[in-house]
Order: sequence, then structure tokens, then C-alpha cells
Amino acid sequence: MATEAEITRLASDILNSKKTVALSGAGMSVESGIASFRGKGGLWEKYDPEEYGHITTLRYSPEKAWMMLREMHREINKAKPNNGHTALAEMENMGLLSSIITQNVDGLHHVAGNRQIIEFHGNLLSVVCMDCGHRIPSREISLDKIPPKCEQCQGPVKPDAVFFGEAIPVDALTKADHESKTCDLMLVIGTSAVVYPAATMPEIAKGAGAKVVEINPSETALTGVVSDYIVRGPSGEVLTAVVNKVKELKLKKQG
Ligand code: APR
Repeated sequence: MATEAEITRLASDILNSKKTVALSGAGMSVESGIASFRGKGGLWEKYDPEEYGHITTLRYSPEKAWMMLREMHREINKAKPNNGHTALAEMENMGLLSSIITQNVDGLHHVAGNRQIIEFHGNLLSVVCMDCGHRIPSREISLDKIPPKCEQCQGPVKPDAVFFGEAIPVDALTKADHESKTCDLMLVIGTSAVVYPAATMPEIAKGAGAKVVEINPSETALTGVVSDYIVRGPSGEVLTAVVNKVKELKLKKQG
């Protein structure tokens, strides 16, 4: 767990920042029971991402892609925001967080109450027919028989998430680029920072003069290279401690 000094350092950086942006990854939702992708117990230990998570597989071997997607859907349908999500929602409500650029497709930042969310990889909360374009909430599709078919035309359906081999939605890319260029503090939470172009955002922030701080139990490709420092620990615990410290320092300042 992070030390009191590290928590205080990050809380002070947040209070002194004019614009803080967060980049979140799968580690953010581990404490909500959703497996991360890489590392021990990760989804990619079971399914090769380039094979199962690629748009070509979804189009031409949909039963394969939907084996993995069914597992993800079932975990997401059961998941609730953890106290790390709640802490970021509190930061937004306190005017201390401009936006979250999330790589996650579980929708938990929205459920926790954040409104300024850039879904860099879309989300798994709805599916769209690749033939007729009919869109329905994922909760309404039965996954007993996979691959699911469109209820209108029996065509193949695709979740609204970005698959390997697909482009990042232009709106998300431009907004994330703008937020990264104009922040003076970027919190990089629960991401291994190995997938691009999401992992470019901390580099863009750094290049624009921002301080980059990681929250992660382990070091990543950014540690000591792009990030100024890392607060090591699970995001639920660390973010809760940081927001409590922010409130304490604010009270002290008000005298
Ligand atoms: N709190 C914070 N971080 C954690 C926790 C936790 N409780 N548990 C694990 N982590 C960290 C791991 O140390 C790792 O650095 O979360 C990170 C998870 O890394 P990945 O599984 O690679 O997830 P992510 O970085 O979000 O992957 C990026 O890759 O497969 C694609 O599209 C997928 O959006 C995903 C992208």
C-alpha cells in the first residue's frame, strides 16, 4: 500500500492542478470482479487477443469471438463500481477532474456518476447488427446460444466496443487528444500502457508539460520513462485515500 507521504503528495498535486485528466484501464475494474487482460488471471491468458478480439474473427468466426464476449458480458452484468470509481466521481463533483479517458468497456465510470467520460474503446453495453444496423442493449440479448443474431433480420451482431483491427472512434480520439494536450496533471490508473493509441495519451500530456502520475500495484512501460512518479497500490484503496486527503487539506486551507 502507498505511504501517507505519497498519498499527501498526490492529493497536493491534484489541489494545485488547474486541469486534471484521468486515463483508466482494466486495473480500475479488478476490484469490481472484472478480470484484467494481461498478467495473472487475465482474459488474454485464456483467449489470444489477436485471434479472439479481432474484428475479422467476429465477422468470419463469430462463435469463437462470442465465446470470449459471453465471458466478458457475464462479468460486466454482475459488476458494480468499486470505491475507486466512486472516488473519481467525487473528484468530478468537486470540480477536481476534467474528464476520464477510459479504455474500459464496462461502463462502470458512468454508473459511478462521472459524466465527462471518453470511451476510447467504446463499450459492451449495446450491440448493433452488422447487416441492418438495429441496436439493442446487450442485457436484452440471450447468450445461451452463440453467436447471437439480430432480432430484426437474423444478421450478425457486434458489441459497440472497438475490436483489434478497428479504428478508434474519431470523436473519442480527438477529445482524448485535446484533454491530454490541455491538462497539467494526468492520473494514469490501472493500465499496463502497452496498447496504442491509448498509451500515447500520457506521452502527449507529458510533452505538453503536464505531470503524469501512475496508480498501479506494479510498474508499467511508462514508469520512470513518461510518468513523474507512481503511487503503488490497488486503485480502489489509493483513490479513496487520496480523495480523503484532498478533503482534509481543503479544510486546513479554509482554516
Ligand atoms: N488497481 C489498479 N491497477 C491494477 C489493479 C488494481 N486493483 N490490478 C491490476 N492492476 C494493473 C496491472 O498491474 C496492469 O498494469 O492494471 C493493469 C491492467 O493491464 P491490462 O490488463 O493490460 O489492461 P489495460 O492496460 O486496460 O489494456 C489496454 O488492451 O486488450 C486491450 O482493449 C483492451 O482496453 C484494453 C487495452
